[in-house]
Amino acid sequence: MFKIAPSMLSCDFSQFGQEIIRMDKAGADLIHLDVMDGHFVPNISFGASVIKSIKAYSDKTFDVHLMLQNPLDFIEDFAKAGADILTFNLEADSPVYETIAAIRSYGIRPALSIKPATCVRELYPYIGEVDMFLIMTVEPGFGGQSFMPQTLDKVRALRDKLLDGGFKADIEVDGGINLETIGSAAAAGANIFVSGSTIFAAQDAKAMIEKLRRAAQNARNSVVGGN
Ligand code: DX5
Ligand code: ZN
Repeated sequence: MFKIAPSMLSCDFSQFGQEIIRMDKAGADLIHLDVMDGHFVPNISFGASVIKSIKAYSDKTFDVHLMLQNPLDFIEDFAKAGADILTFNLEADSPVYETIAAIRSYGIRPALSIKPATCVRELYPYIGEVDMFLIMTVEPGFGGQSFMPQTLDKVRALRDKLLDGGFKADIEVDGGINLETIGSAAAAGANIFVSGSTIFAAQDAKAMIEKLRRAAQNARNSVVGGN
């Protein structure tokens, strides 16, 4: 039920393929790949050709997080590179419905993200249209930032909205997720957790992924038990 997605932004890029294998063996549920264009966010990471070259290293879901000003222009490239999920931002310049349709046309799962300052209600028109929502829990652009607890109201509101309508979309959180913060995100209703610096700084990535998953489960159980 709870899925952990290591963010490869914190890996050793000189060993990208081996790092993918390491995360796969460590029990990652998804491989989270942060694509940054230096426009939508003030940082540049890697693009479709890199993803294409590492795709063969794991059969896990490639969860590609596009932080691009014009995601629609690049859907074909990332589809051909092997993305399984393509997330783009509501605040980007591309038309949302058209971008969702382009992603689906390649048989890929579309997901929509919002930055910390964007109201969650702006996502509601797309409920039923995308398979996953990504609520950013830091300002996108860099790994290693501190979790913003105020973003959890959005997770709760979206969870309730999905439940009310009988929709089953995943809710992913990304940024500052560690053993201290994952519980609150799980209790709020998130079920997919991106974690970069915490997993890559750990001596034992497998143990850390297990601990994160358990912390999420325990927090959710105590919410359910408390009701
Ligand atoms: C930030 C990225 C995140 C980031 C998470 O823009 O989307 O995926 O790498 O890193 P941590 O877990 O270190 O905050
Ligand atoms: Zn990300």
